[in-house]
Amino acid sequence: MIQIAPSMLAADFLHLDKDVDTVNKYADIFHLDVMDGVFVPNISFGFPVIEAIAQKAEKPMDVHLMIVEPEKYAERFAKVGASMISFHLNASKDPSALLNQIRSWGVKPGLVINPDIPVEDLYPYLKDADYVLLMSVFAGFGGQKFIEDTYDRIRTLKAEIVRQGLDVKIEVDGGVSASNAAALADAGAEIFVAGSAVFKSDDPAAVINAMRG
Ligand code: DX5
Ligand code: ZN
Repeated sequence: MIQIAPSMLAADFLHLDKDVDTVNKYADIFHLDVMDGVFVPNISFGFPVIEAIAQKAEKPMDVHLMIVEPEKYAERFAKVGASMISFHLNASKDPSALLNQIRSWGVKPGLVINPDIPVEDLYPYLKDADYVLLMSVFAGFGGQKFIEDTYDRIRTLKAEIVRQGLDVKIEVDGGVSASNAAALADAGAEIFVAGSAVFKSDDPAAVINAMRG
């Protein structure tokens, strides 16, 4: 099943209400990008903004942690209502332990890798994850150009998930739009994160529906 996860990084923060409504009405998941200015060269938002969104959110909140030492803060994101929490593989000293800890809070755990990290690095941890977030741009900023190599990476990862007999979903993030969603679905992705494509459009509902194919 295809799920559309608009990235709130591209939302209108002066009228967040309106963009939260759009996700509630037309999409499936709130994608929330948390950046610390250390793991990535940008700072986004944290607990107060997520708590505000949580008050109105009728769809699950997917927190994408772009922070060093994710083990320090992951539990607070669970407490403010995250249903899914992902962290970057190379940000954690013990990815399996953190994945299992996140699961113990009743939250779906996910692993993220940037485009320069081989998908093979994920293989030992797949059995502990509910989903993999494959970056199709380098994490840190919205509005970047989709990296074409992503299709092959999705196919390779999907084949390994099947080989291990697992039920791990592939989420794709960065430069995703109505023009590449069908090909991404074809390659094996099931969750589509889209920031600019949705919120910088005049008709977010139409873009979301077009992405569903
Ligand atoms: C980038 C974030 C993305 C970003 C996607 O670091 O992880 O979720 O908001 O934005 P677009 O869809 O504009 O590439
Ligand atoms: Zn993201």
